[in-house]
Amino acid sequence: MAVSMVQGAAGAIAGKVHGHWSSRMGFIIAAVGSAVGLGNVWKFPYMVGQSGGAAFVLVYLACIALIGLPIIVAEWLIGRRGQKNPVNTMADLARSQNRSPAWVAVGIAGTLAGFLILSFYSVIGGWSLAYLGDAASGTFAGIDKATAGALFDGLLASPGTLLAWHTLFMAVVIGIVCRGVRGGLERASRLLMPALGAILVVLVAYGMTTDGFGAAVSYLFSPDWNRLTGEVVLAALGHAFFTLSLGMGVMMAYGSYLGQEVNLLRAARTVAIADTVIALFAGLAIFPIVFSHGLDAAAGPGLVFVTLPLAFGGLSGGSLLASLFFALLVFAAVTSAISLLEPAVELVEERTPLSRVGAGLATGLAAWALGIVALLSFNAWSDVLIFGNTVFDTLDKLTSKFLLPLTGLGAIAFVAWCLDRESVRAELRLSPTAFRVWDVVARFVAPIGVLIVFINSL
Ligand code: PHE
Repeated sequence: MAVSMVQGAAGAIAGKVHGHWSSRMGFIIAAVGSAVGLGNVWKFPYMVGQSGGAAFVLVYLACIALIGLPIIVAEWLIGRRGQKNPVNTMADLARSQNRSPAWVAVGIAGTLAGFLILSFYSVIGGWSLAYLGDAASGTFAGIDKATAGALFDGLLASPGTLLAWHTLFMAVVIGIVCRGVRGGLERASRLLMPALGAILVVLVAYGMTTDGFGAAVSYLFSPDWNRLTGEVVLAALGHAFFTLSLGMGVMMAYGSYLGQEVNLLRAARTVAIADTVIALFAGLAIFPIVFSHGLDAAAGPGLVFVTLPLAFGGLSGGSLLASLFFALLVFAAVTSAISLLEPAVELVEERTPLSRVGAGLATGLAAWALGIVALLSFNAWSDVLIFGNTVFDTLDKLTSKFLLPLTGLGAIAFVAWCLDRESVRAELRLSPTAFRVWDVVARFVAPIGVLIVFINSL
């Protein structure tokens, strides 16, 4: 109370106060909340399934370590130095280093990418909410394959239902973001992430009791190198980016609320490990159920929305397990979606007279409106094509193929090539020898890795 009054007074004097995380731990939980999302629980398992199991997993782990980690550190470092939204931060830093003003494009592309992704991320968040409702009301009990498929297709075919769930999801996201860095972003993650962890442990424990567990473990961890194609490597790298929330201004924005007390390399290691462990656990929760029912692990995006309900439907106590699973999916989606909105909110808040709440509402409603166009591309507007892609696919491709790699590349290149090296070494608290390793990775390995993916995806 006293603290908030002091802040309020300071805010009244200074106009607007730039928020800060309450502590190192608060920051890490929020960053893990951002990283752990639909990417971990929905996308990672089906990508593993489609790309042939453990070979994909191992390449993905290498990508996280060699490319994801350095870029996460670069984005935080930039954000922390700027203490502003990604656009102003990049402009300020470029000026102070006597670099081209064009570097501001990194901040613009990132903020735009986060905003665009949020519009369709919220649609999928809505599917998760719809399925949570179905699970809790026992809809899956005794369901057969055709009905499970029809349930999902039916959801995609009804704009009204999709709109209702998308709206609810976005309302939750806007409500949280409007409450600010500490009271909104950080608090939501502090509440939801432990719940997510607990649910995941219960589901994995259940998986261990099924006779599909052994098959799931070997599926995830014993590689069949014949299945390792160029395409699999690219998919793994792309996913490493997405799952760590890179290239969207998100980690820059989160870095802008950081103080000097945080060791960026250590924090990045914690976030990367937590994100990876949760993705693998999601696999250990899902695949035992899939295998013990003799279902197809390579079902693609329908894996959690069609295959799993089918499996849950055949279990006694399946409604409870299914409810837990979809609650997990919703929690993961919410703590990521709030981070996607943050860069745009921070930008609007700092560059217009709008308050935090005004900025949250304005940007959130804009993303919501764009999301409507995205959800219509599954039904009423499925024949509205932009260069042969639906609006949903266009948003997905535009962001994942262009904006993300270019922003990530820009961030790491700026830190590795444009900032004063001694100051970076000191800020990362590295010995001269360790810094040499960082330097090679940051200057060459990570940027070249990103470039390869970018060029190949074109
Ligand atoms: N990392 C999140 C996930 O795995 C997605 C995300 C990307 C969230 C970018 C925020 C920013 O689902």
